[in-house]
Amino acid sequence: MRPTAILAAAAPALVLGTSVPSLHVPGCPAKGTIRYNKSVPAKTEFLLTQVDLCYDKTAIVATFTAYNETNFFFDPAHGTNDELWRYEVMEAFIARGTNDPKTYLEFEVSPNNATFNAFIYNPSKVRDPAFPLDTFFIQTPIQDGLVASTVLDRNAEKWTSTARIPLGLFNVDEGKAKGTEWRMNFFRTVVAPETYPDQGLGAWNPPDEASFHKTPFFGKVKFI
Ligand SMILES: *[C@@H]1O[C@H](CO)[C@@H](O)[C@H](O)[C@H]1NC(C)=O
Ligand SMILES: *[C@@H]1O[C@H](CO)[C@@H](O)[C@H](O)[C@H]1NC(C)=O
Ligand SMILES: *[C@@H]1O[C@H](CO)[C@@H](O)[C@H](O)[C@H]1NC(C)=O
Repeated sequence: MRPTAILAAAAPALVLGTSVPSLHVPGCPAKGTIRYNKSVPAKTEFLLTQVDLCYDKTAIVATFTAYNETNFFFDPAHGTNDELWRYEVMEAFIARGTNDPKTYLEFEVSPNNATFNAFIYNPSKVRDPAFPLDTFFIQTPIQDGLVASTVLDRNAEKWTSTARIPLGLFNVDEGKAKGTEWRMNFFRTVVAPETYPDQGLGAWNPPDEASFHKTPFFGKVKFI
């Protein structure tokens, strides 16, 4: 193991300490709301983006709202678990627990209502190239109850997608979500046909480089 790799992996945790954002999430129909407008990694202004979260007996319910959208750009050929992230998506990275996770769900939804559903194993926690990511695709998300519903409103320059993410994916039994603690981050990619493949990236808690896979930056979430 090269010393530089050790430093790269250790530095973010030391620098961040307890400075990540946090959110309390109630049972549905109440909601915990995040609004973000910071780019990754520069933290300059980014399109306004909202995530409303609540939980019910069997699922985390997440409503993603992309404001100030003018592109609505996706590949119409893309379906489940395709490379949606090359175009425009809303993303949630979710792990149960309080530590910086090595394993977490990566969920994405596109303006075309396609979803990307995988667990990621990120042994360095920061996607150090010396410790490559592994991706475990969820093969039958709809059958599992991992579903999204997407509405585009081009006149209002917004798109909204509501996803149900089964609690069982994280070993939370039916009706047992209250009191559980989580680490999560939320992201949005923006790109127009004219500028493809150069994307604008935004996050709830922007990582310090143009990578979403840096788990010391995940915020702290408690289901109350
Ligand atoms: C961006 O968010 C900050 C607070 O998070 C807010 O003060 C500011 O007005 C927002 N800017 C826009 C353009 O929405
Ligand atoms: C962004 O969207 C919000 C909510 O629709 C709106 O109030 C605001 O004016 C928009 N900002 C820009 C720069 O279009
Ligand atoms: C979106 O996809 C889901 C499955 O994830 C499906 O149930 C739903 O009918 C689709 N359509 C819309 C418009 O959301």
